[in-house]
Amino acid sequence: MKRSIISEPSSLKGQIKIPGDKSISHRALICGALASSPTKISNLQRSEDVLNTFKVIKNLGIDSEQKDFTIRLYGKGLRGLSKPSNELYFGNSGTGIRLMTGALSGQNFDSILQGDSSLTKRPMKRISEPLEEMGASINLSSEFTPPIEIIGNKNLSAISYNMPIPSAQVKSAILFAALFSEGKTKVRESLVSRNHTELIFQQFGINLKVVNCEITLSGQEEFEGKDINVPGDFSSAAFLIVGALITPDSSVLIKDVGLNSTRIALLEVLNSMEADIKIENLRKYGSEEVGDLRVSSSQLKSCKVEASLIPNLIDELPILFIASLFATGDSEFFGVEELRHKESDRLLAMQSGLKNIEIETIYNSGKLTIEGKGSDYLIDSGTVDSFEDHRIAMAFIIAGLRSKKNLVVKNTDCIKTSFPEFSYLLDSLGAKINEIQ
Ligand code: S3P
Repeated sequence: MKRSIISEPSSLKGQIKIPGDKSISHRALICGALASSPTKISNLQRSEDVLNTFKVIKNLGIDSEQKDFTIRLYGKGLRGLSKPSNELYFGNSGTGIRLMTGALSGQNFDSILQGDSSLTKRPMKRISEPLEEMGASINLSSEFTPPIEIIGNKNLSAISYNMPIPSAQVKSAILFAALFSEGKTKVRESLVSRNHTELIFQQFGINLKVVNCEITLSGQEEFEGKDINVPGDFSSAAFLIVGALITPDSSVLIKDVGLNSTRIALLEVLNSMEADIKIENLRKYGSEEVGDLRVSSSQLKSCKVEASLIPNLIDELPILFIASLFATGDSEFFGVEELRHKESDRLLAMQSGLKNIEIETIYNSGKLTIEGKGSDYLIDSGTVDSFEDHRIAMAFIIAGLRSKKNLVVKNTDCIKTSFPEFSYLLDSLGAKINEIQ
């Protein structure tokens, strides 16, 4: 298992381009597979998670061609997938397995969806319940986790569903199933989760409307393939943004970053902490907002994050916790319990890692408080476990940029699940990190 060791403070300087967005890459692949004519996807994320979904689609009989960062998928229409010969393997990816469960619920063949040791612990009742309401037949383990066994059903029907939790994966599983359902499906959210499915469906010409917090989709209509250009992943950029903010004498230009308004609550919070971040060159890739971010070292103030903001920065919380450690004053994060259901129990992983580098945290009824040490603080030394979770590993490696002796982050291989270029890009900006097998 790989370990990353950071032994001296670094600054970050230079310009980088962030690889494609994970959420949009998954959706582009699945839509391309269901379209009735070819789809071209540029800048697809090359992570293990996305490549697993790509393999699944190929196992379902979809042909493809690949040239550099561009992929051509030969979709065969809503009913064009074929029965897989084996279990479909999604590795670490909650997005892959949940969205494909929606898409496979309306097929006329059975399938079994499986994952790695982390994914097989994650809750799936949140998708099986609404999908069963639509007429899907789904079997889960006795703990309501994968493997997910789907008994194919061509006759799904529309539902009207009030989302009990703000989750884009649950919303999207329903919307993918709604493509196969008779009638108009309605999904209502009290807090709007990331809306990439809605935007990409509209880009593919699917009849989907959003009015306030209600999404309406008319099912059973074929749609044509499209050209999709995937914006850079804001959640990957977040690690480099915070890296540049907390290290003195840093200045980084991060190019082509997706700035969808349902993803960038981190910028709002960092702004409130007086971070020096400028957005330049705002433009659109299809319906998705994209821009370049110019980030410089900052003396951060503490923050107070309300529960209503959490769905739009859920994946950025681990690195935001690290930013708050280098801010003045204690920071408060409300409504962070959902962190327990990610690739690891991220609340436990972050609290335990911070404790190992002697940082106080208090967790009480959904609220986490982190003691800020200020911008001059240097971590002494310590060993932190990633809990085999990519975002925990990257968060502590970034913290290590402010380490004066050895900060060891154990089990960092997992970074390849979302951001295989992380070490290379950090290195190109001047960070000094040793990786040991
Ligand atoms: C994702 C939605 C979020 C996020 C995950 C990607 C998506 O999960 O944490 O990394 O692509 O829809 P939830 O929808 O379960 O909150």
